[in-house]
Amino acid sequence: MSAAPVREVFASPAELAEAAARTVADELAAALERSGSAALALSGGSTPRTLYRLLALPEHRASIAWDRVDVFFGDERCVPPIDVDSNYRMAHETLLGPLQLDSERVHRIRGELGAEQAAAEYEELLRARLGPAPRLDLVLLGMGGDGHTASLFPGAPALDERRRLAVAARAPVEPRERVTLTFPALNAARRVLFLVAGVDKAPAVARVAAGDASAPAARVRPAEGSCTWMLDRAAAAGIP
Ligand code: 6PG
Repeated sequence: MSAAPVREVFASPAELAEAAARTVADELAAALERSGSAALALSGGSTPRTLYRLLALPEHRASIAWDRVDVFFGDERCVPPIDVDSNYRMAHETLLGPLQLDSERVHRIRGELGAEQAAAEYEELLRARLGPAPRLDLVLLGMGGDGHTASLFPGAPALDERRRLAVAARAPVEPRERVTLTFPALNAARRVLFLVAGVDKAPAVARVAAGDASAPAARVRPAEGSCTWMLDRAAAAGIP
């Protein structure tokens, strides 16, 4: 039975990012201690930018053995990696580039191939890198105002996937063609960290807190892991 998600509320997005940087460092250190390597999935969107920039700073960089971390992505827009809408580009500019990570350790979703081919390729890659029972050590996720997470949108067929780890998806906003990790992939993780900030997210946060499963983010409940919602006060405003 999956543990109930934990909520942590911070006075500001900056404090949230600082706390998230510490949590990421601790979680990766524990994974490295456990198995000598760690598998991290990055979130897209705008909220994690501050966290990524912090992790690239010398004071945080030193606390993580990045040379033993495999970096994956929770979802991607089907655009070239240099496109402004590319989650890979955002992560590269704010974290992966500054850290000069070995490209062998950075596993981006090749969205430019088109959603179906990119999803099939990523499925193969995840199974090849993570083994017969693929488990990510740490997954970073955001949430949209409609309750979507990664590119798992309300009412989408991708929500019903039971076996595959990565599938094609369609977003209600441009760029529409996406690739996303599925609930089987997310709920197999050891730790999921939601980073959610801003008053526009408050209604969806309240729906998730009330257990409203029509918000896809509410269905992220790692079976044998933990889930933490890191919220700023504005995003938490709707929670009793
Ligand atoms: C994406 C993300 C998506 C994002 C939310 C929140 O590719 O857009 O993976 O799930 O996390 O839309 O986005 P913001 O952080 O920009 O509000």
